[in-house]
Amino acid sequence: MIDQEKWSTILEEYEHLDVAPVTEPQRQYYFIKKCQQYVKQESEELGRPLYCKIVTFGCQMNARDSEKLTGILEEIGYEMIDQEEKADFVIYNTCTVRENANQRVYGRLGQLNRVKRKNTHMLIGLCGCMMQEPHVVEKLKKSYRFVDLIFGTHNIYKFAEVLATRFESGRMVIDIWKDTDRIVEDLPSDRKYSFKSGVNIMFGCNNFCSYCIVPYVRGRERSRNPKDIIREVERLVSDGVKEVMLLGQNVNSYGKTLEDPMTFAELLREIEKVDGLERLRFMTSHPKDLSDDLIAVMKDSSKICHHLHLPVQSGSTRILKKMNRRYTKEQYLELVEKIRKAVPDISLTTDIIVGFPQETEEDFQETLDVVRKVRFDSAFTFIYSKRTGTPASVMEGQVPQEVVKDRFDRLLKEVQAIAAKECARFESTVRTALVEEVNDQDPSLVTGRLDNNLLVHFPGTKEMIGALVPVRLLTCKGFYYIGEAVEK
Ligand code: 5AD
Ligand code: SF4
Repeated sequence: MIDQEKWSTILEEYEHLDVAPVTEPQRQYYFIKKCQQYVKQESEELGRPLYCKIVTFGCQMNARDSEKLTGILEEIGYEMIDQEEKADFVIYNTCTVRENANQRVYGRLGQLNRVKRKNTHMLIGLCGCMMQEPHVVEKLKKSYRFVDLIFGTHNIYKFAEVLATRFESGRMVIDIWKDTDRIVEDLPSDRKYSFKSGVNIMFGCNNFCSYCIVPYVRGRERSRNPKDIIREVERLVSDGVKEVMLLGQNVNSYGKTLEDPMTFAELLREIEKVDGLERLRFMTSHPKDLSDDLIAVMKDSSKICHHLHLPVQSGSTRILKKMNRRYTKEQYLELVEKIRKAVPDISLTTDIIVGFPQETEEDFQETLDVVRKVRFDSAFTFIYSKRTGTPASVMEGQVPQEVVKDRFDRLLKEVQAIAAKECARFESTVRTALVEEVNDQDPSLVTGRLDNNLLVHFPGTKEMIGALVPVRLLTCKGFYYIGEAVEK
């Protein structure tokens, strides 16, 4: 879905350059052209196109990064496919927020090695947050020599250059930066959906929650220039996008590092003015930075979706302090009240960690209390995972696994029971759904996303994909609805 014509015109002038330009993104245009030649040559030798598969782990940020890689890969000449074992190039875009994500990558790499032994020209690339951890790269260098290229989160824009180096050297290429203050604009990017897209508004995080590895692997907070963001939204809309999700680890602190500082609420007001944009979402919000102005913008806006993902992490003020979250249980509850007063039908979702060091049964009861008081529409629940290098990893009083598991099960039960009841509160109302796909199990149905992020299945056809359709929500099935389209 990338604009081939536009890019071939842009890239054309880089074809006959002898040396790589020093400025970005021009330098990458030069390397994309170089890679095109290598791919073309190999594809001619094989008598077929070269195939690539990207496997994305983790959050929306990674999903967006994978779209950027896809844009570059398609420009280089790869065809994207679903089956990993048939691919000539497999990329794992990794996550390291919790240890089990790392273990999955090592496990899958072992399997991939067996495929590569049969298919020796296969390339394996690794990128994403896990690669920003020095001990991971050491392990890969030592025990996973069959990996061809390793690059990090800060220099993802350099992907074509790293790949060209691999083609030229025939050796494992490792290019990881510790941090960056750089944001490179204007590179190709693909979109998974034609009608909705993520848009990065900022990178990195300065919060240093004591359990979290993100600030170490995604670096310091830096905001994109508002002009660049608005230009991207305008382009997306002119290309058929109706819904935009603004992405950042902590969108509420957007703009603080800009030369002309700007708040997130101000940015939303500007983006909202883009004609043709129908829906605007954002994530993730840190409760400590959520301003009254933002609540006012959400209240007044006809485009901002009535959904807020507001990670609470714990309900115990004592634990929140140890987590370095910088709000108390009471402040969180007050904030929820304020938001609900301004936007009564808002859907609230959250993230909760159980088993943080020194968490007692009383602390856990405080978390359950918050869950019961707020009545989240859904919650992602996580077992605390010790991340090397974070302050929490060396705290005394790590909670035994069986205690954590028991709390986790109790929490999940509570969260699910409440979510199912809350979901039903919209039953028999009419809400607008953005149709995303034909239902997998029943092709007479389509699946649409409501502005509160819930899904509704209703009779429809594939021609409706990408359309905003008013739907009566007939029955709630716990986490989704069955509905019917109504005349506008
Ligand atoms: N252990 C468990 N969960 C974590 N998260 C972040 N770090 C950890 C960790 N070390 C969760 C938080 C965050 C979400 C993206 O992942 O709840 O909001
Ligand atoms: Fe991690 Fe906290 Fe930053 Fe979120 S706000 S990415 S939990 S450090």
